[in-house]
Amino acid sequence: MNNIAKIILSAIAIVIIFYGFLLLLPKPKITYFKDNALREYALNHNLTPVPTDYKSLLKIVDNPNNPMTPAKIALGKQLFFDPILSLDKTIACASCHILEEGGDDNIPTAIGYHDRANPKHLNSPTVLNAALAKRQFWNGSAPDVEAQAAGLMQAPFEMNITPKEAVKRLKEDEGYVAAFAKVFDGNISFLNIQNAIGAYERTLLTRGDYDRFLEGDNNAISASAKRGLNLFIQKGCKGCHTGMSLGGQSMQLFPLRRSLMDIFETEPFPFPNKGGFLGENDKKRFRVPILRNITKTAPYFHNGGVKELEEAVRIMSKYQVGDEFTPKEIKDVVEFFKTLEGELVPYDINLSANSNFEGINLTGMDLSHKDLHAINLKNANLTNYNLFGTNLSAIWRDGKPCLKGSIGKCNQ
Ligand code: HEC
Ligand code: HEC
Repeated sequence: MNNIAKIILSAIAIVIIFYGFLLLLPKPKITYFKDNALREYALNHNLTPVPTDYKSLLKIVDNPNNPMTPAKIALGKQLFFDPILSLDKTIACASCHILEEGGDDNIPTAIGYHDRANPKHLNSPTVLNAALAKRQFWNGSAPDVEAQAAGLMQAPFEMNITPKEAVKRLKEDEGYVAAFAKVFDGNISFLNIQNAIGAYERTLLTRGDYDRFLEGDNNAISASAKRGLNLFIQKGCKGCHTGMSLGGQSMQLFPLRRSLMDIFETEPFPFPNKGGFLGENDKKRFRVPILRNITKTAPYFHNGGVKELEEAVRIMSKYQVGDEFTPKEIKDVVEFFKTLEGELVPYDINLSANSNFEGINLTGMDLSHKDLHAINLKNANLTNYNLFGTNLSAIWRDGKPCLKGSIGKCNQ
C-alpha cells in the first residue's frame, strides 16, 4: 500500500472514531424552567406575544411606503376575496389561503387557475402572520406582502391575470372606482391593488394560548406544552423559528446536518423530492416557515412531502439541530405547537363604515354579480353571511355547502 492510501485510510478511521465518540457522549441535559422563569426566558429570546390593539399593531406591521388606513384595509379585504382578479374569475387569494383553515389550503401542492398545479409542487404557506416575515415565499424572493401579491396574481398556475387586465376590470366596476377614489385619489394601478391587499394582509395576525401564557397566565398552556416550549428554546429551534411569528425572519440551509449514516444518501431531503425545488439559487436555502397555526397547515415542508406534524418535528430535530428527539419530546413540542393555534385578532378597524356593502342583508338573497362582486355565484343561498366577517363557511350552492372559504371551487 502506498503512502497516500495509508493517509486516506487513516483519515477515514479518524473521522469514524470521532463520530463514534460523539455518539457516545451523553446528550446535554436541558433544564426545564418553571412558569415564570420560562416566560422570562422566552421573552428574552425574542419570542413575543401578538398585540391586541390597533395602535400597537401599527407600530409592528405598518409600512411607511404604504401606510395603513381603515379604508385601504377594507378595500384590500374586498380584493382578497374577489375572484375578479383571476383571468376567468374563479380564483381569489382566499381560495388558496383559507383564513379559518390556518391560512392555507391543506393540500400538498397549490392548485390554481384551471386546476393547474404549482409546477414546482410548492405548498401554499399560511397568509396568517405573513406580514411579520422579513422575506416572503419559500425562496425568500419577495421582500414584503405588497410585493408578494404581484407575483401570485400574474402566475399562470395561480390567478393568471395581467396587470393591465386587472386594472381594466376594476376601472369598469363602480364599487371599486368609488373605493379607489377614496383610498388612492382615484389611481387604479396594479401597484395600488398590491398596496391595498398588502395593507389588509398586515392585519391578519392571530393570537392563541401561547400569547396568553407570555402575558402572564400560567394556566393558559399545559405542563406538556411548557416542556415543549423549553425544548424548543433550549435545543435551538428558536434560533431559526424566531420572533413574534416564530419564523419568517431568515433564509436557512435545509438539511443543515447530515450524519455519517446519511453519507450514501442521494436524495436531497428526508422526504420525496417531488417538484425538484431546491430553494434560493438552488442552494437548498429556504425561507424559515412561520410556526404560528402550524397544527392547521399540514402537510409540511416546501412540497408538502410530510403529512404528520410529529414527523416534521422529528426531521427538524435530527437534521437541523442534530439531536433526534425522543417520542416524548416530540409529543411535548407538538403540545406546545397546539398553543400557537390562534384566532384572527379583531382589531378595531371599523371596516364596514368604509365599505360599499354597508347594511346590506344577504340572508337568502339571490346574488347577482353586480350586487356582490366579492362573490361570483349565481342563485346562491347565503345564511348568516357577513361579507366583512370572513365567515365563508356559510356559503351554500344548490342546497349543498361549498368548501369552506373556497370561492373558486364553489363555481365549478
Ligand atoms: C393557486 C393558489 C394560490 C392563490 C390563488 C394565491 N396564493 Fe398565495 N401562495 C400560494 C403558494 C403556492 C405560495 C408559495 C409560493 C412560493 O413560495 O414560491 C403562496 C405564497 C403566499 C404568501 C407568502 C407567505 C410566506 O410566508 O412566504 C402570501 C402572503 C400569499 N401567498 C398571499 C396571497 C395573496 C394576497 C393572494 C391573492 C393576490 C394569493 N396569495 C393567491 C398559493 C396561492
Ligand atoms: C437551522 C435553521 C432551523 C432550525 C434550527 C430548525 N428549523 Fe424548522 N425549518 C427550517 C427550514 C428552513 C424549514 C423549511 C424546510 C423546507 O420546507 O424545505 C423548516 C421547517 C419546519 C417545519 C415545517 C413547517 C411548514 O410549514 O411546513 C416545522 C414544523 C419545523 N421546522 C419545526 C422545527 C423544530 C421543532 C425545530 C427544533 C427541533 C426546528 N424546526 C429547528 C429551519 C430550521
